[in-house]
Amino acid sequence: MFTAAVVTVSDRSFRGERPDGTGPAVAALLEKAGYQVIETAIVPDEQPEIEKVLARLADGSGAALIATAGGTGFSPRDVTPEATLAVCARLVPGIPEAMRAASLAVTPRAMLSRAAAGIRNRSLIINLPGSPKAAAENLEAVLPALSHGLEMLRGGPADCGTLTK
Ligand code: MTE
Repeated sequence: MFTAAVVTVSDRSFRGERPDGTGPAVAALLEKAGYQVIETAIVPDEQPEIEKVLARLADGSGAALIATAGGTGFSPRDVTPEATLAVCARLVPGIPEAMRAASLAVTPRAMLSRAAAGIRNRSLIINLPGSPKAAAENLEAVLPALSHGLEMLRGGPADCGTLTK
């Protein structure tokens, strides 16, 4: 079982002006997929704050998977991908590529998500959009492949020749 953390990035939820529906929805999906969600957090759309929480969650023993929700669009305060890229040592472009490809079948607006994914230490960080529906659609598109990546990242018995789905 892999550990996971969920970070909601939203000024309004951080200030308590809007209940965070997305973080709990993402955490529930991860738990259903067998992850142990060890922390959830809400931070404002401030790049240094986002970087700080991502670095803290990925350093030390670290959560294997860190999912962010929100801040991937075009609003001037949407900086989650920039914070993610700043703290990651290695990028994983295939994950947002797969999320956008799957999401384009749902809405052409999927191309407006600037979501990124990358690796810091032994944690995989992935960005999801901010609405509960969009976050779930994006996460569900990549969830089946993530455990194999995490096994490689965490030094488990990953065998790329054993293809499941
Ligand atoms: N992806 C899916 N699957 N479903 C959606 O409804 N919404 C899009 C996109 N990705 C959407 C989606 C929209 S409208 C935006 S603006 C971007 O995600 C960025 O969302 P964010 O700013 O909440 O992170």
